[in-house]
Amino acid sequence: MDRTFVIVKPDGVERRLSGEILSRLERKGLSVVAAELRTISRETAEVHYGEHADKPFFGDLVSFITRSPSLLLVLEGPTETFKVVRTLMGATNPVDAAPGTIRGDLGIEMTENLIHGSDSPEAAKREISLFFPGLS
Ligand code: RTP
Ligand code: MG
Repeated sequence: MDRTFVIVKPDGVERRLSGEILSRLERKGLSVVAAELRTISRETAEVHYGEHADKPFFGDLVSFITRSPSLLLVLEGPTETFKVVRTLMGATNPVDAAPGTIRGDLGIEMTENLIHGSDSPEAAKREISLFFPGLS
């Protein structure tokens, strides 16, 4: 089985959409391997979003992702699980995200876009190790 890493971001938990979002992922056929409600630390957020450290939106992104608890998930499916999740998420900017996707149906703002999903198998491995170091 193939695993990926997902975050229901603080806006999703605050808006009580974590069940709706997880339900969509489960209905697609993915299984929960690990789940934890956790407020992400500034240190972890800066590592997680390290590729964006030089971008003008980095400060806002780190403040947002650390402001209240997120639902951290490791999900498993038969193949290309990261891609399955990315397809269900929709485009990064909810304004552009197609109807039927999580961001397209539930979001409207660029920062508050509800969900993170690893963007490659390598990122999935790295992010699972960062957030769930004890998971074998
Ligand atoms: P994520 O990492 O959160 O799953 O989102 P993503 O792959 O779809 O997008 P990415 O390019 O990795 O950007 C990470 C987050 O940064 C915010 N962002 N703001 N203002 C901007 O131009 C801008 N670009 C990206 C978004 O909240 C995005 O989710
Ligand atoms: Mg990304």
